[in-house]
Amino acid sequence: MSVTVCRKAHFNAAHRLCNPAWDDNRNKKTFGVCSNPNYHGHNYDLIVKVSGDVDPETGFVIDMNVLKKIIEENIIKRYDHKNLNLDVDDFKSKNPTAENIAIAIWNILRAKIDSKLGLKIVLYETERNFIEYGG
Ligand code: NI
Repeated sequence: MSVTVCRKAHFNAAHRLCNPAWDDNRNKKTFGVCSNPNYHGHNYDLIVKVSGDVDPETGFVIDMNVLKKIIEENIIKRYDHKNLNLDVDDFKSKNPTAENIAIAIWNILRAKIDSKLGLKIVLYETERNFIEYGG
């Protein structure tokens, strides 16, 4: 009997979407205002979903406090109030789209959460645009 535990988190970050192999026109056409050379910010909302059996001793799938700390230490500290293009290595050679940010977050968390537990994330870039990734 698998149960899913969900934890919400939040970070603010700046980015610019751009393919350096393309000229300004093509970048502008493809990425629109998200290609603004001077960057722009988003308020990202992250939902981390961990699923697995309920431990009969604790009644937990995962201790929420442990999950909270894992997200805080590994994701929020890494991305909050950062310029994703310039300040973190994750997007040195990758466009910091919501898709690529979601994949990066999942990969970081996957390494920190017990492999017997399922992991899925939802990343909101805006209220209406969000990405789901489960590996
Ligand atoms: Ni953007």
